[in-house]
Amino acid sequence: MDPAKRASVGARSETQLEEQVKDWLRYGEDLGLGPYYRDRPPLHAIAESAAAPQTVATSSAIPTAVPAAMTAAAAGRAPASSINVAASASQKSPAATILPATAPSLFESIERIAGDTLPRIREDIGDCARCKLHKGRTKIVFGTGNPSADLMFVGEGPGRDEDLSGEPFVGRAGKLLTDMIKAMGLQREDVYIANVVKCRPPENRLPEKDEITTCSPFLMRQIDAIKPKVICTLGSCSAQTLLQTAQGISKLRGEWFDFRGAKLMPTYHPAYLLRNPGAKPEVWKDLQKVMAVLGLQPKKR
Ligand code: URA
Repeated sequence: MDPAKRASVGARSETQLEEQVKDWLRYGEDLGLGPYYRDRPPLHAIAESAAAPQTVATSSAIPTAVPAAMTAAAAGRAPASSINVAASASQKSPAATILPATAPSLFESIERIAGDTLPRIREDIGDCARCKLHKGRTKIVFGTGNPSADLMFVGEGPGRDEDLSGEPFVGRAGKLLTDMIKAMGLQREDVYIANVVKCRPPENRLPEKDEITTCSPFLMRQIDAIKPKVICTLGSCSAQTLLQTAQGISKLRGEWFDFRGAKLMPTYHPAYLLRNPGAKPEVWKDLQKVMAVLGLQPKKR
């Protein structure tokens, strides 16, 4: 190729390359990656903060035995009070600190709506048909409780009883959750209870990705409006959704995470506890950490 032609081809490919880079930058801009890379802490800081212990010391004033209310809950399961929490606690090593979830979550970047309120969020949901779950639902299960609660529980989605009543956690798992709340020295009305999706998934299956993507922004708005000090996620779906991680619940539970200004504690779902009452001491231990942060005393027997 003669040198003049080579120069002209070189110039053209340079322009093409420049255009391609600009395209990538525009694409990144559309995805909001600019602010993400600009604002996130440097990787070494993320790694250092992940390496630091994140658990909050449990008040020594709080007993470690599983409360009777939790052990007796929902259809007379075998009492678990004989199981020593301290023993199971020692099985969880500090090495269980999770790195990915300490990175900024996608939801951290969702903008807060100034002055948002629960009634406005409910109004915006309306008679929702945004995802396929609306086809099988009886009632939208928005959430219930204290609109300025310090403690918020987040489940995965309504079951049959909740779909019929329009209230979260009213079935067998709900009764156990109520007992857990009472064991913490609170009443159901003191806390706020919501779910990742607001309509019942058919056959009580897990909510699917598209359903979660469609519905969870309303949960984020609820969290922003309530501004709880602590969010306790119940089961893998809600922990994985809020923390944007694929880590299993057995790895996540019992560890503190920061989420939109709140402290987030993942624990097992009460429905799991109904099937596996032996896991109650672990949940009670997680709840005790929550109680320590909120300054709660366990219910007197
Ligand atoms: N399970 C959930 O996750 N949420 C409910 O509301 C009821 C059962």
